[in-house]
Amino acid sequence: MPSRLFGLIAAAGSGTRFGGGSHGAPPKQYADIGGRPLLWHAINALLADRRIETVFVALSPEDERFRQCDCSAFGARLAPLYCGGATRKESVLNGLIAASSAIDLDDWVLVHDAARPCLAKDDLARLIETLMDDEVGGILATPVADTVKRGDAGGRIVSTERRESLWLAQTPQMFRHGTLIRAMERAGAITDEAAAVEALGLKPKLVAGAISNFKVTYPGDLALARTLLGVAPEGKA
Ligand code: CTP
Ligand code: MG
Repeated sequence: MPSRLFGLIAAAGSGTRFGGGSHGAPPKQYADIGGRPLLWHAINALLADRRIETVFVALSPEDERFRQCDCSAFGARLAPLYCGGATRKESVLNGLIAASSAIDLDDWVLVHDAARPCLAKDDLARLIETLMDDEVGGILATPVADTVKRGDAGGRIVSTERRESLWLAQTPQMFRHGTLIRAMERAGAITDEAAAVEALGLKPKLVAGAISNFKVTYPGDLALARTLLGVAPEGKA
């Protein structure tokens, strides 16, 4: 049987840099973009590719907002899991394990950040088509275009680094379910799935994506996400 494709969205963070959690502010995955939470847009982006059967969402066990979101557009292709952990890695690993009864070891899992609502359909399609027959899997990433500086604690330039062969890792990161679980159970502190797979001695493929698939991190990033998604600025009808 050919390998199937699933999504897993990490959505259990508190969005500290975004100001989430302080003064009752929601975590950033629930920030409003055109009347819908940011997370809704991330789910919508993955499910836009019909080859993805189901998108699992790793939510915090304390999450009370997800139930209030209207996700009816996604029907049974969306599966929330209240399995989030203290770190992104824990949330993803818990999600992989929680979804084990539905996903075979050879199936592909595309792990995606809830905080990347602007993933374009053609970039997702290229990732899938490039990796579908690959042994290892890989990630969307962009080659570093700017000159890279190393700074000191005082904010002064120490050196200029070579940018050749440097890439910025994005998500989705697409690996086989069995490989991912094995890699992540062994890995120490990592900030993406590829790092865990690299530690197995494998070489994930870099698939060129677009900078529009940026990660919403600071409050000022929301305006750009709204523009890219073609929705009105906050407060405008
Ligand atoms: N994430 C998660 N579980 C955690 C931490 C993060 O599922 N314990 C998710 C976030 O919800 C986000 C993605 O991982 O969609 C990328 O993480 P990041 O941008 O760092 O989000 P936060 O950790 O929420 O933000 P911050 O680091 O500013 O606190
Ligand atoms: Mg974080």
